[in-house]
Parts: sequence; C-alpha cells; structure tokens
Amino acid sequence: MVAALGLGRGGSSSAAEQVFRRGPVVLGTAFRIRAAETDPTYRGQLLAHGYGSLTPEYEMQMDGLEPQRGIFNFVQADRAVEFARAHGMTVRGHTLVWGKQLPSWLTRPSARWTRATLLPVLQQWIRTVVAHYAGLVGEWDVVNEPLNDDGSLKRNLWERLIGPDYIRIAFETAHATDPAAVLYINDYSTEWLDAKSNALYALARKLLGEGVPLGGIGFQVHSNTRTPVITRQLEANMKRFGALRLRTDVTEMDVDMRTLTAAPQAKLRAQARIYADAAQACASSPTCWTFTTWGFTDKYTWLGPAAQPLPFTARYAAKPAWQAITARLGHHARANHV
Ligand code: XIL
Repeated sequence: MVAALGLGRGGSSSAAEQVFRRGPVVLGTAFRIRAAETDPTYRGQLLAHGYGSLTPEYEMQMDGLEPQRGIFNFVQADRAVEFARAHGMTVRGHTLVWGKQLPSWLTRPSARWTRATLLPVLQQWIRTVVAHYAGLVGEWDVVNEPLNDDGSLKRNLWERLIGPDYIRIAFETAHATDPAAVLYINDYSTEWLDAKSNALYALARKLLGEGVPLGGIGFQVHSNTRTPVITRQLEANMKRFGALRLRTDVTEMDVDMRTLTAAPQAKLRAQARIYADAAQACASSPTCWTFTTWGFTDKYTWLGPAAQPLPFTARYAAKPAWQAITARLGHHARANHV
C-alpha cells in the first residue's frame, strides 16, 4: 500500500511518514461532558470500552464558546478536554468554521456583515480557540460541511460574506496559531465515489496546491440502512486522499435504523453490516488513524431514541454493531452483549 502511493519508506520526509498510522486504528466516540458528570452509568461505560479519542459533541461549537462577540466561555469545553486527558484519551476539536451552531450576534447582526467586518471575527475566533487548546487538542475540524451534495460550495455565512477563500484563511489562521495540530475538512455523504467526494478531492488538491496546511479529511459517515456504506468506495476515497498525504479518518459515524422496517434482530444485523463495512475500509487504509462514532449509547444521540444508531443500546448492552466494529479494527475491550 505504501509503495502504491508512491511514498516509499526509506528516505521519505517526516511529514510523509506522519500520514501513515503505525499501530492499530484508534477507536473514538463523541461524548457529552454534562452526561459524563451527571450520569454515573454513562461515565462508567464511556470509560470501559477502550476508547482512545474523544470528540466533545457540542461543547466546542461557536454558539457555546463565543456567546457574545469577543466574550469567550470555555468552562464546559475545558471540562470536556480535562476529562479526556485525565483518562488518557486524545481530543478531536469540533468544530471551528461551520454554517451551523452559530451565535445570534453573528446570524442576526445589528449591522450587515461585510467581508471587511467578518474576516477579523473569523480570525479572532480561530486564534483564540486554537491558542486556548494548543498542546491539548491535536486535531481540529477546521472547516465543517463546506460542500453541497452536488459538489458546489455551501452558501453559509462565511462563504457568502467572505467568499470561497474563507476556507484557505481558516486553515492558515489555525496553522499559524498551532503549527502542531492536524487540520481537517470534515463532511458527510463523502463515503461514495460521486459528485460530492469528487468535489472534495478537487478542493483538497487545490488547497494543497496553494500551500494551505490541510492535514486530513474527516469522513463523518452519518449513515442509514437505505444508503449504506460501500466498502470499496470508501476505501477508494481514503486511498486517493491518502495519496495527497492526507489523513482519512471516520469522524462521526452512526447508522440510523428508522429507514428499515424489519424484525429487531434483522435490523441489528443490517446495522452491524454497515458499521463493519466502514470499519473495514478504515482498517485497510493506512491513512485512517481514528474511527469515531457519534456517541456510543442510543441513550444519548442527536438523532433521537427511535433511530437507535449507535453500537450500544440505551441500556448499554453491546449490539452486533459493537462486535462488528471491534472485530474489524482488532479492538479489544470487554462488553456485555445484547
Ligand atoms: C450535532 C450534535 O450531535 C448536536 O449535539 C449539536 O447540537 C448539533 O450537531 N454533523 C456534525 C455534528 O458535524 O456537529 C452534528 O452534531 C451532526 C452532523
């Protein structure tokens, strides 16, 4: 695989080496610090399954961290980072620049934003947050969900007011603040070979060609039983982005089961299959460092309880999905099964 990418081991630069993981894929999950602090069972289970990487699910969004212009509130996010570190887990920072979870002073400004007024807001936000977590957060989702399904750039606040180069500027600002952090574009519906992943690939190439410090692609893989993962397509994506010397991680996987009407056991098997297919693609891709699910128990999921999208039930029994993921990743941890 390494040779196929044209990056032979001997004599390759350290930057090229860093794109290939050495050991097994690290298993990660999104988590909610409030739940970890108030729900002892959740906390215990979060710590019991051998996760190596945690992503604060909402605590680092801009609406929470900069609720008023220039006034930052790091209390919750700091607790999340502290929790992860206290238990020997790394933290993925999520997310710096996105069209959602924006504070109202940004979305309902007293005077219309212009490029000249919004650009310093973007830069100060990135500098403040990345500096605050420098040395503590090693990976950042710098730009989240920049693309439409047809491959065009999303017309979010940043794109409309600053222009398409908000992406370049965001990466350059983050990198100047913490040169050691690995900086990602993170998006959903990029697991297939189609217009969206092609556009993402073109965007990544263009940015790298301009010298933009892009270090990775996050494949969210919010999945469901109607549009399942196709292992070979996700693998092919990881391979082509990896050949650009980018990491290719799975960052937010879940599998919504509301799209399938079947007996409970059949639903669980279908879900496990989809998790297995994604984990397989990650395990066979040397640039896939981390496999993160968007939560771990159906008790706490952004999709609501009916979706049952995660590897553990609401009562913390391991589903076939957990078995499928751990088998594909070679991850060892004890769990009680359904
Ligand atoms: C969701 C979270 O789960 C919620 O807690 C939050 O309030 C809204 O967003 N893509 C992303 C995530 O990048 O941030 C989203 O998470 C799910 C879709």
